[in-house]
Amino acid sequence: MQITMIGAGYVGLATGTCLANMGHSVRCFDINAARIVRLEHFDIPIYEPGLEEAMRSAVEAGRLSFSTRLRESVAEADAVFIAVGTPSGADGSIDLSHVLAAAKQIGPHLRRGATVVIKSTVVVGTARRVREIIARERGAFDIRVASNPEFLREGSAMKDFMEPDRIVLGADDTRSRNILRAIYRPFERAGVPMVITTTGNAELIKYSANAFLALKIGFINDVADLCEKTGGDIADVTRGIGLDRRIGESFLLPGPGFGGSCFPKDTRAFAATGRQFGAPQKLVETLIARNDQRKLLLARRILKEGRLAPESTVAVLGLAFKANTDDVREAAALSIIPALQEAGLRVVAHDPKAVPNAKEHLQDVAWADCPYAACTDASAVVILTEWDEYRRLNLDRVARALSGDALFDFRNLFDPRSVGQHGLRYFSLGRAATSVRQKGGISPIDRWDRRVAAPGHA
Ligand code: NAD
Ligand code: UGA
Repeated sequence: MQITMIGAGYVGLATGTCLANMGHSVRCFDINAARIVRLEHFDIPIYEPGLEEAMRSAVEAGRLSFSTRLRESVAEADAVFIAVGTPSGADGSIDLSHVLAAAKQIGPHLRRGATVVIKSTVVVGTARRVREIIARERGAFDIRVASNPEFLREGSAMKDFMEPDRIVLGADDTRSRNILRAIYRPFERAGVPMVITTTGNAELIKYSANAFLALKIGFINDVADLCEKTGGDIADVTRGIGLDRRIGESFLLPGPGFGGSCFPKDTRAFAATGRQFGAPQKLVETLIARNDQRKLLLARRILKEGRLAPESTVAVLGLAFKANTDDVREAAALSIIPALQEAGLRVVAHDPKAVPNAKEHLQDVAWADCPYAACTDASAVVILTEWDEYRRLNLDRVARALSGDALFDFRNLFDPRSVGQHGLRYFSLGRAATSVRQKGGISPIDRWDRRVAAPGHA
């Protein structure tokens, strides 16, 4: 089938590449011409594991191409996917302007009988609006509009797309339903559950799924707080509840508050839709406030428990909103770092991939090339992203590099029982803090001795 992607961002690129590797002929169009030029040279503007290899194989097989020419991109397509951004408006409701502009642009160029498929995350009723816009542009209702929400995650986009739990196909007429089924036939044959429903239900499914996953995270973060106050251990608690199949073990990792380009904006849009239709989503409203507040409360915890002198330096490891992506949109680092700076602290930051994006959002941060360089002479170190590189940190080396002794691990990467042995006070989530004074720990003077004895110490 001939497919065109309107929007070559995370979703457009990943989806287009995977559909091409499934055997379809795919063309990606983006309004950002510079992005298309880069893509033509395999200069991929985002970091997504496996994407480049998959793109190369699709292009080499002649099934994936990129274009800046709208008319040419759209005119022959059987299906045109809209995969443009749907950010938050000022009041938290969805900003559909990119989707509606894309519909207006493609309207005149679509071939008769083509199906437009909305891949972007959009509020209920959008498919109908898009159909009306296209009809207005063409002077005829000859184009069908379907909804096919996407559930991939950044950092595992290729795997998520190719191994879905289910595929949601929203269509209000037989022709577009058949087109969608034909596109996803290999998955249907492989036994992937297909939810074939209306466009409105498909739109509601997408937001309900994201809101529910975000609620799971918000809930476990609150439980982690309770564990800290009561001497509990969040790992045992999550295992104990997650093994109940009705609850499930995934999305129960405590963290510094969810971020990214999806959960924050989608929960806001879901709540705004509830208000608009007189069906308030109170749980989600509370979740949004709690999640924003959590990032600031964690900054406060660093200031309070870090025993930091005024103007001391804090090393922040991890700027991306999660591991395996360079995306910093609504990342915890973007709230926590400015809060620390406001309190008068200096921040040195490291991230394996996200520094260029973070530089667009943060001021007065010193950037380090490696985590140990970030820790050098810092009073405390704070881990905000669960990169494997940080899991493998040599904590002796970290302790020697620091001038202070506090490690705040807001991704629970280490075993609290072992961190004290490295001479660090350890603060993680949902577990008791451990101190250097615990049995097996080394005294501050021992740690100082190790530091001056270390190779390279001036
Ligand atoms: P993105 O910002 O990475 O990419 C959007 C692209 O669309 C940009 O390259 C932009 O230049 C282009 N664009 C904007 N207007 C255009 C127009 N009129 N014509 C052509 N191109 C245009 O966004 P994204 O992360 O890919 O998200 C896209 C949609 O998919 C959003 O609704 C998002 O909520 C949803 N979604 C995202 C993810 C994810 O993991 N990022 C997962 C599932 C769903
Ligand atoms: C999320 C959903 O997981 C995807 O299914 C969905 O397609 C996508 O949003 C979207 O609609 O755009 P994504 O934002 O890429 O995907 O990343 P997630 O892995 O869901 O993580 C989101 C945030 O929650 C991150 O900040 C992450 O660190 C946090 N998180 C996740 C936790 O704190 N704990 C967890 O157990 C899981």
